Amino acid sequence: MKITVVGTGYVGLVTGTCLAETGNEIVCVDNNAEKVQKMRNGIVPIYEPHLDVLFDRNIEANRLTFTTDLKAGLDHGEVIFLALPTPEDEDGSADLSYVLGVAKEIGDYITDYKVIVDKSTVPVGTAEKVRATIAKTAKAEFDVVSNPEFLREGFAVDDFLKPERIVIGTKSKKAAEIMQRLYKPYVRSGNPILVMDEKSAELTKYAANSFLATKITFMNEVANYCELVGADVDHVRIGMGTDSRIGKRFLFPGIGYGGSCFPKDVKALHKSGKDANFSFKILEAVVDINEQQKTKLFPKMEGYFKDDLKGKTIAVWGLAFKPETDDIREAPALYMIDLLLEAGAKVKAFDPEAMENVKRKYGDKVTFCENMYQATEGANALLICTEWSIFRTPDFTKLKKQLSEPVIFDGRNLYTTEELKELDFHYLSIGRKS
Ligand code: UGA
Repeated sequence: MKITVVGTGYVGLVTGTCLAETGNEIVCVDNNAEKVQKMRNGIVPIYEPHLDVLFDRNIEANRLTFTTDLKAGLDHGEVIFLALPTPEDEDGSADLSYVLGVAKEIGDYITDYKVIVDKSTVPVGTAEKVRATIAKTAKAEFDVVSNPEFLREGFAVDDFLKPERIVIGTKSKKAAEIMQRLYKPYVRSGNPILVMDEKSAELTKYAANSFLATKITFMNEVANYCELVGADVDHVRIGMGTDSRIGKRFLFPGIGYGGSCFPKDVKALHKSGKDANFSFKILEAVVDINEQQKTKLFPKMEGYFKDDLKGKTIAVWGLAFKPETDDIREAPALYMIDLLLEAGAKVKAFDPEAMENVKRKYGDKVTFCENMYQATEGANALLICTEWSIFRTPDFTKLKKQLSEPVIFDGRNLYTTEELKELDFHYLSIGRKS
């Protein structure tokens, strides 16, 4: 099939590349000429495991090309994916200006039937707005489909190639059939392609992300309570999670969720509710609790250093909002670094992928290290913010020699309290006895 993907951000690039993988001819459109040139030269502009291999292979096979020319892009595809940013507006709602801006141009340019697919995370009613915008000037027939994506950063290629489900929201039978044909090779395992109305598809995405954020947040509250009553959240988590109705996943407590999706989507669903005179009270609580959770370890650090962090050196392991990504959007590590710097502490940081992004934000206010042990050398304490695998089994003997005080603040519960007690570390984590 001939497909056009407008927007080569994270979602667009993964979508375009993975659709090329099954033999479709993909044209990716982006208005950033420099980025387009880089991609033409075979450079993947984001870090995402396995994407580079597929990217190279499909460019080589001439199934994946890039342009800044929207009109040429629209001429190419029968299906046009909109993978455009929907950033958070000042009032928490999703800013649709990019999506509707391109919709207007689609109306101006299309000359034959097109399926316009909303891949971006958009509030209920957006498909209708896209349709109305295109219809103002369109001289050809078109259908609009809401097709939310459920990709996780770090696993996006696998999630795209083997999705648990595909959601297609449309009122057009013709468009639904085209979309089913396009996705058929990806659901050979028997996972469903769910066809529904547009609004339900739009809401499915927000509801799924908000539910997952709520699940994590519930566990964070339980963890905080565990600390108060002397229970161990790891036992509670496993005890709960083995009930198949609850499930083991997304029950890991920590210093809060971050990233480009959960924080934005929870707020956007809350705001959409408000606009319809509906109060999503549970989401209000989720936002509040997560804000507090991100800096949960700071008072513990202040407590340990007797409110005197000035001049102390803190090694920070992990800067990305989660492992396997270089994304630092809403990363809890940054909230902790801000507080540490404000308190006069020095920060020595290491992350396997996200350092360049953090350098751009902090410059020389933070010392960036080449490896995890360079960060801990001579530091007063270690703070862990992201659960990269490399941090899971450190050389504790070395650490003890390097740190001027054997203390670890762990925002991701990487070690057992027992093992660190045996090694004589002062170990403060989330929801467990210190
Ligand atoms: C999330 C969803 O999981 C995807 O299904 C969705 O497609 C995507 O948002 C999106 O809307 O584009 P992602 O933001 O990549 O994916 O990351 P997750 O793996 O879901 O993690 C989100 C945050 O929750 C991270 O900060 C992570 O550390 C935190 N988390 C996750 C926990 O604190 N505890 C857990 O048990 C799980």
